[in-house]
Amino acid sequence: MYNKNMNYFGFASAPSNIALMKYWGKNHYGMPMNPSLSMTLGDLRSFTKVSISDRKTHELYINNTEFKIDQKLDNFLSKILNYFKCNNKLKIESVNNFPISVGIASSASGYAALTAAIFNFFAKICTLTEENLKMMQVFACNGSKSSVRSIVNDSQKFVKFENNKITTVPVHEIFSGFWDFVLCIDKKVKEISSSDGHSMACKSIFNAIRVEYANNNIQLLCESLKCGDFEKVQSLVENDTLLMHAAVAENFGGAMYLTQGSKVIISELIKNRGKHRVIWTCDAGANVHLLFHEEEFNFIDSFLAYIKDFVAFDLFTNKSFKGISFDRT
Ligand code: DP6
Repeated sequence: MYNKNMNYFGFASAPSNIALMKYWGKNHYGMPMNPSLSMTLGDLRSFTKVSISDRKTHELYINNTEFKIDQKLDNFLSKILNYFKCNNKLKIESVNNFPISVGIASSASGYAALTAAIFNFFAKICTLTEENLKMMQVFACNGSKSSVRSIVNDSQKFVKFENNKITTVPVHEIFSGFWDFVLCIDKKVKEISSSDGHSMACKSIFNAIRVEYANNNIQLLCESLKCGDFEKVQSLVENDTLLMHAAVAENFGGAMYLTQGSKVIISELIKNRGKHRVIWTCDAGANVHLLFHEEEFNFIDSFLAYIKDFVAFDLFTNKSFKGISFDRT
């Protein structure tokens, strides 16, 4: 179908995202058991190039290392290639500007960038229409449900995924100026993959409470973001994080994503509650995200200087809400 001598390729980059209300566990249809809401992390991105492979199987390179194509990726590629009526195999070259598989949602940015790069390959899209975005979200969903919230344009800073629908959440200016500092305390590939976590979630005694919590509070979270109620947003986000991590600990006999380092950071932040406006959360990993407005910069500076005597970490910072891009720079 494609002339191999011609140097066709598709390229896209996509942001990661941090969930403020977390999707954890799938229903019988393989869809999220509960609604989720995230903030776009425009500076923490995957950059993906797609071309036709000379091999009989797909090829995947992440940060210049070849990876085996797992079943999930293979199914994802089959569906999207069938849609474009393409029988060829793909060569996928992806680079991340943050560590992968450590709980900074690399599968969100990874699948979002891959889907967009494949669309770019077939359609050579220059201007993104809402229709393009919707189709990409449909396909990205076959790869990773959190990636659906990363297929966004620049105006979609806070994104809700509920009942298979993506919507933009308008927020008060204190949140639209939010920074995310990720204290990356563990760069090892996590022992409990999020796929294992999702498949065990429904067996947890905390599951019903967690799902009910998300269903009952997603609307309240949206309203609190909109009217700028920091304390309400803080308690909703932190409690949701605790519920997810409690379910993991119960599912895996006490094993957890959170490490001693995460707990030290969280307990020091809790000591400052009421004095400083910083929200903490952790995805499926040990790393702690600090979400705050720039008026807290001085506190954050001194907090990081203090905490580094107890916990070693690499810092990844995010300020931008940049969405999907087909620009190579
Ligand atoms: C804790 O989207 O990685 O980050 O759909 O199986 O790929 P799959 O799972 P994935 O799970 C993300 C879980 C989370 C919470 C969230 O981002 O909502």
